[in-house]
Amino acid sequence: MNIRKFQNVDFKGKRVLLRVDFNVPMKNGKVAEDTRIVQTLPTIKYLLKQNAKLIICSHLGRPEGKKVPSMSLRPAVEYMSKLLKKPVKMMKDCTGPDVQKAAKELKPGQIMFLENLRFHIAEEKNDPSFAKQLAGLADVFVSDSFATAHRAHASTAGITKFLPSYAGFLMQHEIEELSALTEKPAKPLTIIIGGAKIDTKIGIVQNFLKKADSFLIGGGLANTFLAAQGFNVAKSLYEKDKIQVAQDTLMTAEQLHIGFVLPEDVIVADEIKDNAPTLDIPADDVIGEMKILDVGTKTILKFIEVIKKSKTVIWNGPLGLSELKPFSRGTAAIAQTLVKTKGVKSILGGGDTIDAVKRLGFKEEQFTFVSTGGGAMLEFLEGKMLPGVEVLLQKTAKKKAVSKKPARKAAKPKMKKKLAKKASKKKIQAKKKRR
Ligand code: 3PG
Repeated sequence: MNIRKFQNVDFKGKRVLLRVDFNVPMKNGKVAEDTRIVQTLPTIKYLLKQNAKLIICSHLGRPEGKKVPSMSLRPAVEYMSKLLKKPVKMMKDCTGPDVQKAAKELKPGQIMFLENLRFHIAEEKNDPSFAKQLAGLADVFVSDSFATAHRAHASTAGITKFLPSYAGFLMQHEIEELSALTEKPAKPLTIIIGGAKIDTKIGIVQNFLKKADSFLIGGGLANTFLAAQGFNVAKSLYEKDKIQVAQDTLMTAEQLHIGFVLPEDVIVADEIKDNAPTLDIPADDVIGEMKILDVGTKTILKFIEVIKKSKTVIWNGPLGLSELKPFSRGTAAIAQTLVKTKGVKSILGGGDTIDAVKRLGFKEEQFTFVSTGGGAMLEFLEGKMLPGVEVLLQKTAKKKAVSKKPARKAAKPKMKKKLAKKASKKKIQAKKKRR
């Protein structure tokens, strides 16, 4: 994939708007997992070394256009500032006179950070006037936000209409690694999907149906599939309005003879807490106040069996509520199997997945590749062109009409008349000769 790399640009003294994805797991107002921050540091340091005036922006969570104090980027920015050992000016908003003034006053080598872009609904709506306001702060746009590249938002796609736009190191690295790993994935290919963000994942499962050999489903998505099969999921997280899609997906999987492994047993609890009493029960025994919070023992064994037969495994989303010990067994067992099984390429992605495996004591280096993208990684691997990547592609010259003869210059109007006269003269002469 031929993208515009930011190494080819002279940034000296230029105001650069850098889009990052600092949508990191937070706990009690503090950064709980820092991979996405750490991985953008090379781009930030490079731009500072180039004497750019740096304006950084990101989203955090899904505030849906409201100012939600718990979704302020301040803790993430303070964290980044400590890692960089450099002061960073944190703004109260991402647009408006104060932001414009601060951007104008920025000196080479200084950094300012905009407040959560999604505090404005215009961001997710990819509103051109919002994109223009963001663009007005800078001379150049650099995107290092692979993890948000599947969203066509103002700060990931719209803005590129107004500023020259380039890919930073992390964006380049993700595209290169994921392309190389999955151009022709070694088969059998297994997809593991879990996690709590279930709305878009069912679509991703559908799109992978023709590519993958097996699916192992956990987390909130599994509950939706269980409900679609008529199981009582009681008080568990699931999506009612996706039941029909889930039923269709199960039918297609069956027709295509794809291994589609859903939990046959589950870990349940009435309360979500560290010392909650739990039960490991068959999926059809769930009743009353129970919440499904992890996959059960038999399911884990089935999952392990499938992984051991796979050559490539793509994994997004913990299988249970893995930040709490009683519900982390499924996720830990999968990570352990991936690390121990020889000859299997393991590709992991997403903030929550990275958080879960690290929390359980695994290191990034133990897996073949760990992507900062969750949904973005899955959509990229499906073969979709991500909107936030598409806008960074090198523009190829438009194809001209195919002609083997070198094109003649278009005749000027006067010339055209002369040529027409000449041609009709020749015709008359030829007619005379024939007579
Ligand atoms: C992610 O964590 O996958 C990205 O930050 C995108 O977040 P979103 O799913 O809320 O758009």
